[in-house]
Amino acid sequence: MGSCCPDSVVTSEMKRNLLYCMSVSKFHQLIKKIETVHGGICNDIEDSYLSPEACNVWFNKEIDRKLPFQEKHVLQQGSILGNLEKIGALKRCDKNVECCEIDPEEKGDDKNVPAVVEFGAGRGYLTQMLADCYGVKKVYLVERKSYKLKADRSLRQKENLVLERMRIDIEDLNLNAVESLHGVPYVATGKHLCGPATVHYTLIS
Ligand SMILES: C[S@@+](CC[C@H](N)C(=O)[O-])C[C@H]1O[C@@H](n2cnc3c(N)ncnc32)[C@H](O)[C@@H]1O
Repeated sequence: MGSCCPDSVVTSEMKRNLLYCMSVSKFHQLIKKIETVHGGICNDIEDSYLSPEACNVWFNKEIDRKLPFQEKHVLQQGSILGNLEKIGALKRCDKNVECCEIDPEEKGDDKNVPAVVEFGAGRGYLTQMLADCYGVKKVYLVERKSYKLKADRSLRQKENLVLERMRIDIEDLNLNAVESLHGVPYVATGKHLCGPATVHYTLIS
């Protein structure tokens, strides 16, 4: 360990370096261990591909934005959101997209609308679709890299939406320290979150 850190502090960079230094055979052993654990936990999870009605504005390309539209990603995002809706984590917005944002009658219910934390958010397109189709009011994008923030710019134009982008490694994230999330129910999402980040994300949320 480097002299700059006390012995008990193991940073994400140190862990990454350990991985990079592994021999090929040790790396294969690690993969086998992960597959065994995954097989033991996840063997009864069924594939569930959904195209929820709430996302029709996106499926039908009715969103007039300068955001890139890639069908494959839109279908994947829609399915993630559909599955979250199916398990009751998201409520669909019955009316049109705009009314989700401005219906004054719904204002009193804001407390019950969950915030959304997207892990490994990349450019934030999953959250963009979520905000367009499910009328969420508070979103947190967790991402360690810096990207062009096209979706962020579009999201920030939504009147009733609060957006926070946290540039941090998920491993170092303590959601209890995020004041604006105190007492707020939240849904944790992620798409194509790779490697150990999935483990940290599962542990945090
Ligand atoms: C394959 S990309 C997916 C991006 C986006 N979710 C999507 O579907 O377009 C994975 C993203 O997760 C981020 N990521 C991976 N591990 C991370 C970690 N430990 N902490 C924060 N971000 C992480 C990467 O930087 C990358 O942007």
